[in-house]
Amino acid sequence: MGRTVVGVDIGSASIRAVEVADSRKAMPEVVRCHEVALPEGAVRSGEVMEPHTVATALSTLWSAGGFRSKDVVLGMGNHRVLAREVSVPRMSMRQVREALPFQVQDLLPVPVADTLLDFYPVSETMTDTGPMLNGLLVAAVKEAVNGNVAAVTLAGLNTVDVDLIPFALTRVLARAHSEHRSMAFVEVGAATTSVVVVVAGVPQFVRIIPTGGADVTAALVARLGMEPDEAESAKRSIGSESSAVPADQHAAADVIAEYSRELVQSIQNTLNYVANTRQNDPVSAVVLAGGGAQLPGLAARLATATGVDILRPDAFSTVTLGKNVDLARLAERRGAMTVALGLALGSAA
Ligand SMILES: Nc1ncnc2c1ncn2[C@@H]1O[C@H](COP(=O)(O)OP(=O)(O)OP(=O)(O)O)[C@@H](O)[C@H]1O
Ligand SMILES: [Mg+2]
Repeated sequence: MGRTVVGVDIGSASIRAVEVADSRKAMPEVVRCHEVALPEGAVRSGEVMEPHTVATALSTLWSAGGFRSKDVVLGMGNHRVLAREVSVPRMSMRQVREALPFQVQDLLPVPVADTLLDFYPVSETMTDTGPMLNGLLVAAVKEAVNGNVAAVTLAGLNTVDVDLIPFALTRVLARAHSEHRSMAFVEVGAATTSVVVVVAGVPQFVRIIPTGGADVTAALVARLGMEPDEAESAKRSIGSESSAVPADQHAAADVIAEYSRELVQSIQNTLNYVANTRQNDPVSAVVLAGGGAQLPGLAARLATATGVDILRPDAFSTVTLGKNVDLARLAERRGAMTVALGLALGSAA
C-alpha cells in the first residue's frame, strides 16, 4: 500500500475523516473512516472559532479512528470562499496564476492581498482577440483558511492541501453518478449550501449559498420560542407539509415550509442562471447531499421545482473498503462522509 492521506471535513457539529490509499487508482481503497462530535460554538460555518477545542477533537478522532497518516487535506466552502466563472487569454497555468491577482480585483469583495487565489480551467474558446481559457476562479479569504490549518497543526498533523468542498463533492459524485452527463450537486449543510453544475465530470459552475439546516432550527427558536433541542427534533420529524401534521404542530410546519421554499427558490435561481448561460447541456438530475438535505419534504419540493430526478448520493460505490472500516457504522453515516472522501481522493498520494 502506498502513502495514505486523510480527508478532513470540519463541520458545525462534528469532524469527519476518511483515510484513503491509492487515491489515483481507478478503485481507491478507504482504509479508515471516523467521526467525532464537536461542542457547540467550536466551529461556525466551517470556520474554526476555538482552535484548541478543535485540535483536541482531532486528536480524539485520530486515536479513536486509528488513523495512521498525519497528512491531511482540508476542505473550504463557506461565505468566505468565492467561485466565479472567468475567461482569461490562453497562456500557461503558471502565467495564469501569476496574472490572476491583477485581473480579478473587480470580482472580489475583499482586497486581493487578503485572499488565496486559484484558477481551474474548464474549456477553451476562440474569440476575435485570440484564444481564451474559460474556467473557475476560486478566491478564499486567507484568514478563514489559516484558522483551520492552525487547528490541524496544533493537533500535530500536517495540512498537505486545502481544497474547495464543491470540488471534493464533484470528485466523488461525478464518478458515482456517471450515467448523467450534466448534473447539479446540491449539498445542504448546517450553515452553507453548495451548488455545483458538472458536465462530463468537470465542474462548470459553483455557488456557495450562505444558508443551511441550522437556519431552520434558529427560526423555530426565534419565532416560536422553542428550546434548541426541541426545535432540532421538531425539524427532523415534522417536515414542511402542514396538512399532514397534527394541529399543534402547524406553526412549526409553516416555519419549516417557509425555509424549504426559500432554499428551493435559491437553488432554482442558481440552476436557472446556469441554464440561461449554458443552453447546450441541460441538467438532467440533481444529486442532493448533506445533513440539511434530510429535511422531510425538501427533496420532493426540489423535484417539483426543477422537474428532474433527485438522486441521493452514493459516494462509497466507487471505492473499495479496507478490513479496518467499521461497516455497520459506515452504513449509517456514509452520506455524511461524502465530503471527507472527496477531499482524500483529490490528493496526489
Ligand atoms: N434527519 C434530519 N432532518 C433534518 N435535518 C437534519 C437531519 N439530520 C441532520 N440535519 C441537519 O443537517 C445539518 C448538518 O448537516 P451537515 O452535517 O451536512 O452540516 P455541516 O457539515 O456540519 O455544516 P456546514 O457544511 O454548513 O459547515 C444540521 O442543520 C442538522 O440539523
Ligand atoms: Mg458540511
